[in-house]
Amino acid sequence: MKPKVLVTGGTGYIGSHTMLDLLENGCDVVCIDSCINSDTSCLEAIRQLSGVEVPFYQADLCDLGASERVFRDHPDISGVIHFAALKAVGESVEKPLLYFRNNVDSLINILDLSLRYGVKAFIFSSSCTVYGDVQKSPVDENTPWQEAASPYGRTKQIGEQIIRDTLQHTSMKSILLRYFNPAGAHPSGKMGESPINPPQNLVPVITETAIGKRESMTVFGTDYPTRDGSCIRDYIHVCDLAHAHTLALKHVFADRQLSQTEVFNLGIGNGLTVLEIIEAFQKQTGVSLSYTLGDRRAGDVMAIYSDHTKASKVLGWEPKMDINDIVSSAWTWEKNRSTAGGK
Ligand code: NAD
Ligand code: WQD
Repeated sequence: MKPKVLVTGGTGYIGSHTMLDLLENGCDVVCIDSCINSDTSCLEAIRQLSGVEVPFYQADLCDLGASERVFRDHPDISGVIHFAALKAVGESVEKPLLYFRNNVDSLINILDLSLRYGVKAFIFSSSCTVYGDVQKSPVDENTPWQEAASPYGRTKQIGEQIIRDTLQHTSMKSILLRYFNPAGAHPSGKMGESPINPPQNLVPVITETAIGKRESMTVFGTDYPTRDGSCIRDYIHVCDLAHAHTLALKHVFADRQLSQTEVFNLGIGNGLTVLEIIEAFQKQTGVSLSYTLGDRRAGDVMAIYSDHTKASKVLGWEPKMDINDIVSSAWTWEKNRSTAGGK
């Protein structure tokens, strides 16, 4: 029998790609999302690509009663992947309580329901942001945490701790996945990043500038002690990232996980500078980008990239795509959604 997986935040960027990967790898999927930062258009793309209509519940996970309906309708859910969260770092500084309420309350509710309804595997979207301002890279899972740079980052640190504390003395197992910089779009061009809030991340800012939604963009800082003066990050293709969730679930379902909670870094393991990303975009697409060299952005870490040896060894995960795949797929998606009159 196929395992049934509840994907929270499933109509969002990473959740939508993960739902497709799960369907392609022998899982049934149910989706819950409040649509605070997404719309439901990915469900049609997923139907076209997989032939499956995913059962969808529009509900806020902070509303325990509304969320419980999903479990009452699907008491056979055996895995939960919890993506649902607000993720804008700057907004979290302005509205910390919004972030604590949304990200922490929703986590408590979904954990509560998962335990009550006998879920076996709980996968949590964590972030490299838990490491804070690291002094050296690559970082592995044992790199000590620094102070979180934002309330958003703190919700991920708190979230990981809540899960560890809650799962002690239960039979549910959890995997905490620390993503580095997810980017790119599905190679079909039918699905990608399409948030309600204006994106602040580098790759969508590049594609939005290239298509003319923004007049120009700024490179935040060119005086860092890096090879070209701009910041270094670890950009991971969203489809590679999505597949890691499927592998993580299978790991738990196969009873291979011995400890209650396990943590994995998910990055490509190779740091690239902002200027290298811009260069890759221009080279891959032939589009010349309008950008200026600006001041550093407050709160930015100079360089961070991952050591993902553990995910490779334990989950058998290997990222297959590189920065050229990321910028090309992101550009195809940007052109498609703009032609379709999207946001
Ligand atoms: P996203 O905003 O595209 O998706 C998150 C989804 O959760 C959205 O569809 C939103 O409507 C939904 N949501 C938010 N609060 C909710 C609530 N209370 N109830 C129900 N639905 C709710 O973001 P994403 O990039 O797909 O991120 C997914 C997860 O990965 C998040 O937890 C995020 O913090 C984490 N993460 C993202 C990145 C990144 O750069 N994209 C990096 C590291 C970690
Ligand atoms: C990447 C690089 C910018 C925009 C954020 C969160 C982190 C995680 C991933 C969720 C930086 C530079 C960007 C622009 C630029 N998310 N940049 N001009 O800051 O590494 O990480 O997303 O957990 O928590 O903080 O990603 O895409 O914003 O920036 O020069 O217009 O691009 O300075 O060096 P970041 P990003």
